[in-house]
Amino acid sequence: MSIVTQETLLAALKNVKDPEKGSDLVSLGMISGISIKDGHVAFAIEIDPARAKTLEPVRIEAEKAVHALPGVLTVQAVLTAERKKGKDGGGHDHGHGHAHGAPGGEKPLIPHVKAVIAVASGKGGVGKSTTTVNLALALVGMGLKVGVFDADIYGPSMPRMLGIEGQPEMSPDGQSILPLHNHGLTAMSMGFLVPEDAPVIWRGPMVMGALEQMLRDVDWGELDVMLIDMPPGTGDTQLTISQKVPLTGAVIVSTPQDIALLDARRGLNMFRKVEVPVLGLIENMSYYMCPSCGHEAHIFGHGGAKSEAARLGCDFLGEVPLDIEIRETSDGGQPIVVSKPESPHAEAYRAIAKRIWDKVGLIQSGKGQRTAPKITVS
Ligand SMILES: Nc1ncnc2c1ncn2[C@@H]1O[C@H](COP(=O)(O)OP(=O)(O)OP(=O)(O)O)[C@@H](O)[C@H]1O
Ligand SMILES: [Mg+2]
Repeated sequence: MSIVTQETLLAALKNVKDPEKGSDLVSLGMISGISIKDGHVAFAIEIDPARAKTLEPVRIEAEKAVHALPGVLTVQAVLTAERKKGKDGGGHDHGHGHAHGAPGGEKPLIPHVKAVIAVASGKGGVGKSTTTVNLALALVGMGLKVGVFDADIYGPSMPRMLGIEGQPEMSPDGQSILPLHNHGLTAMSMGFLVPEDAPVIWRGPMVMGALEQMLRDVDWGELDVMLIDMPPGTGDTQLTISQKVPLTGAVIVSTPQDIALLDARRGLNMFRKVEVPVLGLIENMSYYMCPSCGHEAHIFGHGGAKSEAARLGCDFLGEVPLDIEIRETSDGGQPIVVSKPESPHAEAYRAIAKRIWDKVGLIQSGKGQRTAPKITVS
C-alpha cells in the first residue's frame, strides 16, 4: 500500500488555487499544521477570517485533492486565521505562546468573561462533560450568563450533550466567530466545526492554535462564568490550557474507583503545580440508585471522595449517583437539570453549582480576576 508523505501531500495541494490571489495554496504559504498518521491526514489552511465563506469551496477542493492520493483514508482540512506577521506585533502563536496578557500586542483571550472554571479529572470517562453541562445549566438557573467551552479537541461532547446542531457563523464584520446557544447557554466546541465521527488527529501545536482561536476569536460576549470541559488526562494540552487561560479555579471530577486508584490526585496536582486554585472534588457515579425502588447500592465503596478530599486538603463539593436518567438525558442533549429540574439529581447539581459559585465569589473578592500563571513547566 502506498504511504502518503508530506511531499506528496504538498504536491497535491499545489494544484489547488486561491481564486482571488491566482496562485496555489502551497506557494502562497497557506498550508500549516500538517499531520499524517496511518493514512489519516489533517492540515490547516491559514486565511484572513473575513474570507472564510469565499474560501470554503477551496477547503473542500483541497480535501478532495488530498483524498485522491493513494494511501489516504481520511482528510480533514480546516480554515484557521492566518498568523499575523509584522507591525501589529506577535500574532497567533501556535504552541509555545505567551501567557494571557503577555507582551506581544495580542487581543487578550477572553476579556469579557468574569470567571473561568476548568472541569477536569485524572483520567477519562469519569463524567466531566456530563458534570460540566449540568453545572453550567444550574448556574444559568441562578440567573448567571454562562458559557461552555469544550476543550476536548479529539473527542468533543458538547454538540451531543447540549443538543446543538449546526455550524457557527462569522460575525457580520468577519472579525469573529459567533458561538452557538441552547438551554440559555453560550457554547463553542470543535464538534461544531468538524463532524462528530471524524477522527481528529492534529498535532499538539495545531490543537493549541485551535483552542486559542476558539477562545480569542469567538465572540463570547459578556459572561459571568465560563466552564471549560477539559479533555481527559493530565497531558500537555491540559497543562497548556491551565497556563494560558486565566482560570479562576478548577474542579476535579472523580469516580469512587479512581479515588481508590489515586487518579484524582494527579488531576489535583497538575493544577497545584500551575498555581490554579482547586475549588474542590466532585464524586460522580458515587452510588447506584435503583430506579424502581430507590435503593442505594454502594458498588464501589462510595464516600471515598470526601475523606480523600480531606486528606488532600481540598474541599468536597458533593456527589452525584450513577443513574441511567443522568446518562440518557445528557447523552440525548437534554441534561437532567433542564429536563427534570425537580429530580434529586438536578438538586444535587444545583447544590454543587452553588458551592462553586460561592467559592468563586470568595476568590474574586480577594483577588479579582486571576491572570494565567507565568511559569513554565519543562
Ligand atoms: N452520574 C452518571 N450516571 C450515569 N451515567 C453517567 C453519569 N455521569 C456520566 N455518565 C455517562 O458516562 C459516560 C461518560 O461520561 P462523560 O462523557 O461525561 O465523561 P468524560 O469524563 O467527559 O469522558 P472523556 O474523558 O472521554 O471526555 C456518558 O455516556 C455519560 O452519559
Ligand atoms: Mg468529556
